[in-house]
Amino acid sequence: MTTSSAFHRRCLLLLCLCFTLLFHFHSCAASPRDLRFTAEDIAAVEAVLPSSLRQRQAKNTFFEVARPLRPPRGSSGPCSTLLLSHSFAFTFTKPPVTAAYSPPSCLSDAAGGGGGGARAVSLAVLEWRADCRGTQYDRIFGVWLGGAELLRGSTAEPRPGGVTWSVSKDVTKYASLLAAGNSTLAVYLGNLIDDTYDGVYNADLTLHLYFRRAARSPTASSAPADRVVPVSRSLPLNDGLWFVVDNTTDIESTRLTVPPNAYRAVLEVYVSSHNFDEFWYMNTPDQNGPFREVTVHLDGDVVGAVWPFPVIYTGGINPLIWRPITSIGSFNLPSYDVELTPFLGKLLDGKEHELGFAVTNAQKSWYVDANLHLWLDPKSSATSGGVIAYDAPKLTGKIVSNSSDGIDGRYDATASRNITATGWVRSSRGNITTTFTQRLTFVHTNVVSDKGSAQAINQTTAADTEVSGDGPHTQQVHQSFPLYIFLGGDGSGTSSQRLMRRVEIGLDETRSGGGAEESTSTLHNAQTAAAEVVLRDDQVVGASWRMHQVYEYGGSDGGCYSRNVSSIGYDVLFDHNEESCAGTRGR
Ligand SMILES: *[C@@H]1O[C@H](CO)[C@@H](O)[C@H](O)[C@H]1NC(C)=O
Ligand SMILES: *[C@@H]1O[C@H](CO)[C@@H](O)[C@H](O)[C@H]1NC(C)=O
Ligand SMILES: *[C@@H]1O[C@H](CO)[C@@H](O)[C@H](O)[C@H]1NC(C)=O
Ligand SMILES: *[C@@H]1O[C@H](CO)[C@@H](O)[C@H](O)[C@H]1NC(C)=O
Ligand SMILES: *[C@@H]1O[C@H](CO)[C@@H](O)[C@H](O)[C@H]1NC(C)=O
Ligand SMILES: *[C@@H]1O[C@H](CO)[C@@H](O)[C@H](O)[C@H]1NC(C)=O
Ligand SMILES: *[C@@H]1O[C@H](CO)[C@@H](O)[C@H](O)[C@H]1NC(C)=O
Repeated sequence: MTTSSAFHRRCLLLLCLCFTLLFHFHSCAASPRDLRFTAEDIAAVEAVLPSSLRQRQAKNTFFEVARPLRPPRGSSGPCSTLLLSHSFAFTFTKPPVTAAYSPPSCLSDAAGGGGGGARAVSLAVLEWRADCRGTQYDRIFGVWLGGAELLRGSTAEPRPGGVTWSVSKDVTKYASLLAAGNSTLAVYLGNLIDDTYDGVYNADLTLHLYFRRAARSPTASSAPADRVVPVSRSLPLNDGLWFVVDNTTDIESTRLTVPPNAYRAVLEVYVSSHNFDEFWYMNTPDQNGPFREVTVHLDGDVVGAVWPFPVIYTGGINPLIWRPITSIGSFNLPSYDVELTPFLGKLLDGKEHELGFAVTNAQKSWYVDANLHLWLDPKSSATSGGVIAYDAPKLTGKIVSNSSDGIDGRYDATASRNITATGWVRSSRGNITTTFTQRLTFVHTNVVSDKGSAQAINQTTAADTEVSGDGPHTQQVHQSFPLYIFLGGDGSGTSSQRLMRRVEIGLDETRSGGGAEESTSTLHNAQTAAAEVVLRDDQVVGASWRMHQVYEYGGSDGGCYSRNVSSIGYDVLFDHNEESCAGTRGR
């Protein structure tokens, strides 16, 4: 069968290239192509699964483990509105799908309308629900309202009998945008259709709103922004509204003005990596190494940095690994906050300022955009401010390679960056000084062994972010993103071979702050997964995969969620979950 030999040839590419010494150590690594399966590869694997698994083709539901969203006690709702329903066939390089948005009447009626409804929202949930049947790659998509990004996700890869998945995202922070009045909702999902890849993605986008029953305003430190200003490309476009960053010198920017009475500014950055940088952490020194960062530029100065969580899309490394439990962040990519309040002194001059993004070491392509969340002083028409201190030393880092024979060896990469800025803002709330500090570190090793037939990377990205000062909006966030990936096999060159993949990935986060209303939360989210494909005489004769995920969240507000779920192949082996702080350990 040609299908399985195609599998064989491509999946062993990494190993073969190294064996035949076409490349030396630096190049002896997986290219993005080696980390993806074609439709034929997957068909060959599906064909050897036990018939019980093959028969249960219909109604596959794949899911990302996340905590359920619960409205605060005493809320009314939901008031649900279908915003858009569309079938995404050949949509790549076509304009985004748009729909006219006007605030649902339950929202404009709340708090007497006039945009004041935003304050009555206790929880807003954006639900993306989609299905697909046939054969298709994972695709990236984004949802924008009035140019501001609300959601970015990767699609699930379908099975021939179909797949469904859904994402519920807390979009309460965009309440002002949801209440603001008529605007345009845009969804870009770049899908390609041909004779083989025939899967059409059918998606419904629904907004669920919950309201405070009592006319009680959200507390000062947790209230959503009064205005959300998009930092993205404007329609019309034949692409998503994100900027596309293609190389390390490319800075994509836009100009914007800030309302004169702003007293707080937070830039929320969305980022995803594609093509040659999809698996940037696997990249060798000749592919610009394994380190990437998104830098935020204000009038040319680096005012913040995002060291992204390594989201593995549903088709990455071995797509079977992510079925039915998908990788962390893949259906709902994380966004990252950069506090710009210390720079309001600069921004409050009523003039246009340039906000831009670059990606250190970038290869084609990074999709980056942002939303500027602004809090406005209701009691004054103009605030004032000044920058007191700003220090952003150059990124430091290095890669050390060590190979004795030019094939096997290891290299170690490290990087570190600090940014700190202090500024004051005078408003009706007083003269408040805010300091924003980022301390970022990255430690990475890449070991090639067994004559180039195995590669293991192990890295940790750590980010400490602090907002301090004499105002109520203080915050300390510590994030750590450990990632281990092993690609290898045995029996190369013989008739019987095993191709192995192993992934351990985690997202750990602690948050505290809020001044007088001090609150804390911790999240531990970790996946351990492995897959094996067995080949005999170029034919796929067996395949197996397993996943274990532990998700533990606890907040000082009493919100707790823990989940301990495991799957083998397409079957969930056990799934313990609990919404109390007792945890699921040992059950
Ligand atoms: C907003 O859109 C609705 C529905 O399309 C329309 O009835 C209304 O007049 C519009 N309002 C404004 C202020 O444009
Ligand atoms: C980097 O990308 C920009 C934007 O696509 C392009 O104009 C520029 O020529 C590229 N530079 C290099 C060195 O490739
Ligand atoms: C390089 O690797 C060799 C064996 O792989 C080891 O003996 C040597 O100590 C390493 N050198 C450095 C500088 O790490
Ligand atoms: C960042 O700050 C830490 C602690 O103050 C220091 O150890 C480290 O060397 C700094 N890194 C850079 C790149 O400035
Ligand atoms: C606000 O406080 C800062 C720092 O103490 C000071 O430099 C600035 O002059 C004050 N601004 C006003 C308007 O009082
Ligand atoms: C990755 O490196 C960390 C830190 O050195 C270590 O604790 C961990 O065990 C390693 N992971 C694997 C799977 O080797
Ligand atoms: C998850 O559940 C399994 C099976 O019940 C149990 O053995 C394991 O200890 C649990 N792990 C955690 C972290 O709760």
